[in-house]
Amino acid sequence: MGPPGAGKGTQVRILSKMLNVPSMSTGDVLRAEVASGSELGRLAKSYMDRGELVPDEIVIKMVEKWLRESNARGGFILDGFPRNMRQARELDEILRREGMELTAAIYLDVPEDEIVRRLSGRLSCKICGVVYHVQFNPPKEDLRCDACGGELYQREDDKEEVVRQRFRVYVESTRPVLDYYRSSGKLLVVNGLGAIEEVNKRIIDGLREITRSR
Ligand code: AP5
Ligand code: MG
Ligand code: ZN
Repeated sequence: MGPPGAGKGTQVRILSKMLNVPSMSTGDVLRAEVASGSELGRLAKSYMDRGELVPDEIVIKMVEKWLRESNARGGFILDGFPRNMRQARELDEILRREGMELTAAIYLDVPEDEIVRRLSGRLSCKICGVVYHVQFNPPKEDLRCDACGGELYQREDDKEEVVRQRFRVYVESTRPVLDYYRSSGKLLVVNGLGAIEEVNKRIIDGLREITRSR
């Protein structure tokens, strides 16, 4: 969890490889729907372009389906979900039904001015969704994805006024979810500033601490 541009996607990709568990980004799945031109994609786009949350029913169903179909029993990582209290409660319910439990809600703490810097320079792969940054994490070849050779582009919702709205939605809807996990002892607060590898090490150390103390 964390504000737009905190580094969720970047860290989840690394963690998913390190821990060898599947991961899912609700934002990536929604963007793939938009790109496919499906009816769901058209509906989602109308919210995403404004920086608003896509209706709960849609994303909850997506996550539920993914958890069922993606070999998540041995562990999993969610990126960008849950994003409001309804989604958090539904996730608890789904996991309870499936006999699974969350280890931690990882919160990447990054101040607003750094977010603007990160999002204004972000490049995303059209094909596989890997993210780069023109300055902080540049691709080897200009505008080509290192991982798959796909074309890199600037996300539609990275325009300044949409970023501002995404941040507002984060403060209003998602921050309360942090308190929810904090009160159940599941919140792992990680300083999201510094090099990508440094942030990654903090997450791994934090997770180690949690699993050791249980
Ligand atoms: P989503 O795709 O989840 O966007 P977001 O939450 O705004 O987060 P971002 O993907 O923009 O940032 P990130 O934290 O992944 O950062 P990244 O690693 O790319 O959601 C988009 C939209 O989909 C929402 O607005 C909503 O409409 C809809 N949606 C999604 N989930 C939903 C849900 N659950 N319910 C309802 N609607 C939903 O990094 C950013 C940049 O910084 C990159 O350029 C990266 O290279 C760079 N960077 C990363 N780490 C560092 C570092 N340590 N130092 C320097 N640069 C860094
Ligand atoms: Mg992301
Ligand atoms: Zn790619």
